[in-house]
Amino acid sequence: MIRDPESFSLLLDTVERFVRDKLIPREAEVTAADAIPADILAEMRNMGLFGLTIPEKYGGLGLTSEEEVLTSMALCRASPVFRSRIGTNTGIGAQGIVIDGTEEQKSKYLPRLASGEITGSFALTEPEAGSDAGALRTTARRDGDQYVLNGAKRYITNAPQAGVFTVMARTDLDSKDAKGVSAFLVDRNTQGLTVGKPDRKMGQSGSHTADVVFDNVRVPAANIIGGKEGMGFKTAMKVLDKARLNIAAVCVGAAGRLLDEALAYARERKQFGQPIAEFQLIQAMLADSKAEIFAARSMVLEAARKRDGGEAITLEASCAKLFASEMVGRVADRAVQIHGGAGYMQDSAVERLYRDVRLFRLFEGTSQIQQLVIARHLLKGN
Ligand code: CAA
Repeated sequence: MIRDPESFSLLLDTVERFVRDKLIPREAEVTAADAIPADILAEMRNMGLFGLTIPEKYGGLGLTSEEEVLTSMALCRASPVFRSRIGTNTGIGAQGIVIDGTEEQKSKYLPRLASGEITGSFALTEPEAGSDAGALRTTARRDGDQYVLNGAKRYITNAPQAGVFTVMARTDLDSKDAKGVSAFLVDRNTQGLTVGKPDRKMGQSGSHTADVVFDNVRVPAANIIGGKEGMGFKTAMKVLDKARLNIAAVCVGAAGRLLDEALAYARERKQFGQPIAEFQLIQAMLADSKAEIFAARSMVLEAARKRDGGEAITLEASCAKLFASEMVGRVADRAVQIHGGAGYMQDSAVERLYRDVRLFRLFEGTSQIQQLVIARHLLKGN
């Protein structure tokens, strides 16, 4: 749902201009420094990008799902690293509070997340619990009006920058599955919480992940999201439904950029006496990419509109994430192929994007987890 087409198109124009004039020209600098420059971050804060999806009541822009996915598609014409920096505030690091938080939790954290004053981060994955997220081992033992957290989280996006973590931990210490899990809001400066060194990754230079270790970390009982034990896995899954749809939108944006790069190169590069774009084998690759991007975009928009209509979209989010993340892998591969040797060189945008987009088939649920979610729905008759 687009609430006010005129003001939304102003927002999209602003994002598109920012991408074209400020972000794309700085991509190589971000890769080289493995960091987003401070002036770009300041501009992202001023534009309200950290608060895109946080309700207006708490200082955000309160975008609907349709508005959010269209904005992500536009933003991700630039390196996905820029979106990743705001992505935990607009998504997984804040949505637990937006969806299930108490009023007190919302007023305490959301305004600071919306302004970008603090960064949110989502701590679900552990060394021994990745796809099987319900098997997590981090414990939260009740002690009076506090919980004491112990355990370790792995590959946590934006952990090095985070001010507050949404941490899934086991409050029913005898349980082994999803039922005994609760979600906690844990401030970064809490004693006993340490963030490891940033991981060395295949791509996405400038976006950071790290381990987060909890060693007798004391958290007030009031910091359980929603105030109720045992609801944390469901909160995490609801957050991931929304996040998976948004990652599908991110894939559509990145695929659009890859196609732009491939098209520009095919027009300019001459072989056998003419631009390679004149050759039908090149045209076939460009056409297949366009058709697949269109299909993914249509899936994302339909699912987003359904979510705005108040319907559950677990199935549609998994379908969109599965298709769009696999699609962008194929589009990236064709873009490198069209560039030939030039696409294998480290100074080409397609080489960097080829590595960057590989992540999308892995995080927020692998392709295989999306297949499993889709199949479970089919078998249940949904
Ligand atoms: N919404 C609400 N509730 C949900 C739900 C959803 N989408 N999905 C499941 N639930 C509920 C179920 O109804 C069930 O509740 P009841 O017991 O009351 O019936 C409970 O949660 C447990 O569900 P399951 O039995 O289906 O749980 P499971 O252990 O079989 O796991 C799974 C299901 C789909 C495999 C899940 O573990 C999963 O999604 N795994 C992948 C984890 C993942 O995506 N990790 C990504 C980490 S975050 C990340 O990558 C971010 C980053 O840093 C950028």
